[in-house]
Parts: sequence; C-alpha cells; structure tokens
Amino acid sequence: MANRVVLAYSGGLDTSVAVRWMTEELGVEVIALSADVGQTGDLSDLEQRALAAGAVAAEVIDIKEEFARDFVGPALKANAMYEGRYPLVSALSRPAIVKHLVQTARRYGADAVAHGCTGKGNDQVRFEVSTVALAPDLEIVAPVRNWGMTREASIEYASRFAIPVTATKDKLYSIDDNLWGRAIECGEMEDPWAEPPAGVWEMTVPTAVEPREVVIAFDTGTPVALDGVTAPLHDLIIELNEIVGSYGWGRIDMVENRRVGIKSRETYECPAALALIMAHRDLESITLERDLQREKLRLESRYAELAYDGLWFSPLKRALDAFMEDSQAAVTGEVRLELGPRSCQVAGRRSPLSLYDYGLATYDAADTFEHADSEGFTRIWGLGVQTWADVQGPGSRS
Ligand code: ARG
Repeated sequence: MANRVVLAYSGGLDTSVAVRWMTEELGVEVIALSADVGQTGDLSDLEQRALAAGAVAAEVIDIKEEFARDFVGPALKANAMYEGRYPLVSALSRPAIVKHLVQTARRYGADAVAHGCTGKGNDQVRFEVSTVALAPDLEIVAPVRNWGMTREASIEYASRFAIPVTATKDKLYSIDDNLWGRAIECGEMEDPWAEPPAGVWEMTVPTAVEPREVVIAFDTGTPVALDGVTAPLHDLIIELNEIVGSYGWGRIDMVENRRVGIKSRETYECPAALALIMAHRDLESITLERDLQREKLRLESRYAELAYDGLWFSPLKRALDAFMEDSQAAVTGEVRLELGPRSCQVAGRRSPLSLYDYGLATYDAADTFEHADSEGFTRIWGLGVQTWADVQGPGSRS
C-alpha cells in the first residue's frame, strides 16, 4: 500500500474531493500537481485550493512549451487525427502530464501516482499505461473510479470537510482543454441526434467578419512563423486559435469509438489544430515524393490510434516517430490560408524544396515533358491487363 501519492490535480470537484478522500480513506499523504497545458481558467489559486483540501504539498507547473514541442509537434508531423477527425487534444496532454507526475513522485519520494478519471473513459487508460511505461515501480491510485460516490455525494463530502469547490449539483458538461483544443461531452449531447447547444462553444464563437489571409511558415514539419512573425510553437498555436476561432471555424461533432468499447458522442473545438494539420498536409503535397507521401498517409492513422489508445510511450510509437521525423526533412515552406465566416481553406503553398515542376506540369509552351515516352509507358503499364483481356476478359472468345 502506498504512503505518498502525487495526484494530477485539476482543481475540479473530483480531484479536490480525491485529495481528502485518499488522505482519510487510504491514509496517504497527497501531493497535488497541476500542469498548465494551455487550458482556460484561473490556475493562480490551484495551489492554495489543493492545500485547503488537505494536500501536504501542491505545485503548479507551466509545461506549455514542452507540451507543444514534444507532444503536439510530433503529432502534427504525423497529421494525427483519430478516426480521421479528432486531433487528439486530451490524448496528447495525458502522457505529458504523466511525465511530470513521475518526476514529481521521484522528487518527493512518493510511491504512487493518482488521477481523477472515471472508469468509462480513455483518459484513465492513458494515465495508467503511460505511468507503467515510464515508472513500472509506481503504484497507481484511481479513487474516483472506485469510490462509488454520486456527484451529489461528492459535493456533500466537500462541504463536510470544508473543501473549496465551485461545483453545483447538476454538472452539465465534461470539459477538457489545452492549447491543442477543447473537448465538450455529456449533457444534451448524449443524444447523438441533438444539436450541441450554442452555449457549449468557447473557442469558436464567430466574431470576425472581414475575410483575411494568414501565412504559416514551416521548418522541417514544424510551424515556425505566422504572417512572417517567428514564434515558439506554443505561442503560435495559441495565437492561431484566436485568429481562426474568431471565424467560427474549427468545430468537430462526431461519434467516436473509445478504447473501452463505448461509442461516444463528442464535440470539439480545435481551430488551430485543424488549420495547422490542413496546412501541413498541404505543404507535404509539394515536398514529399509520391511513395513516401502515400506510405506516410497509411501510417498516420496508426500513429493516431496509438496516441489515442494510451500507447504514446511504446516501441511502435517510438519507431513511427522516427519515420515521421525522417519524412519531414524537406517539409519547409509556406502555406497561405484564407479565412472567412465559418471557413478556412488553403489558398496557396510554396517551398524552396518543392517537387512541383512547372515544366512538367504545364500545358503551355514551356512544357518539358517527353510526350512520346508515354506511348511505350502506357502500353507496358497495360500489358498484363491486355494479356488477361485476350484470354479471359469480357471481350475474349473463350
Ligand atoms: N473523447 C476524447 C478523448 O478521449 C476527449 C476526452 C475528454 N476528457 C474529459 N475528461 N472530458 O480523447
């Protein structure tokens, strides 16, 4: 049984009650760790609130830069979208947080880590499998999954122990956000036919009306500048969320397959993530050789599945990272995005390493393509089909 536990602390009802519940019921010392991954909300009082809930120590750490560089950046190189649509917002933050849970556990000599996830979601899987991968010796405590308290009972528990929480009896939505986007679940959206109420959107409230252009510069697969202004990845993403989100673009409404076997209706807003993946993929269309581009496309969905399923720290994911990284050597250049009400589209792309050859592509006088070569090429390309057609095809006599 553990003595000292580092809890991933969000400041919400569940993790606040978890601090006291683990102290009382399990007799452990709780260290609360809150990671700033670019979520909204006030993080300044988290430390004090964790202590008020009964934590023996509390820390808030800003990991935005590392999160963008080591988790979002590689996922973008892989154009990672789960089931073709979801850019893995929460799935990317969990392994980043676990890395720091483990480091903090080492610093405090803790023998366990804890999270506030329920038993129905993917996040528990990501927390626990990442922990096992990085620190197989640490115990994992999941109080919320096992305590069997209703939301009402948790609120009563909080007031009994004077734990500061802002929660009300009926919680409408389950929300998780970071700089890569925002996930909104539950409430009316549990009916997949029902339209999400207008009030659920925060990052994609349309305010801009004048169409505008934004130019994104990439260096070997990583966005490095917006409209010519260089910025570290985390700042660039945050700024692009503002710009693209103000056009009301970047929403996703889907039913996805959770790792635990449940189909779940999910809504997301990911303006920067979707815009950057669109731009990055487009730049690859002029900088990747055909076979590399196609094989990469095949591996991208596998990459997204691994990240979604909690296998960020796994040998296959690491090997795929090496492939993705290698594939990005020439993915340098610029993409022009055109923004308008509820729309975002690529309007142009260019690269010093572009494989787009005007001479080969053009139909005008500058044409350099050897037209005569195509005659033999096409004949040989179709030779197998021709042989088949003669003997077995629909027009054959046999
Ligand atoms: N369904 C998404 C995922 O599994 C979002 C999860 C959001 N998490 C939350 N606690 N609300 O990645």
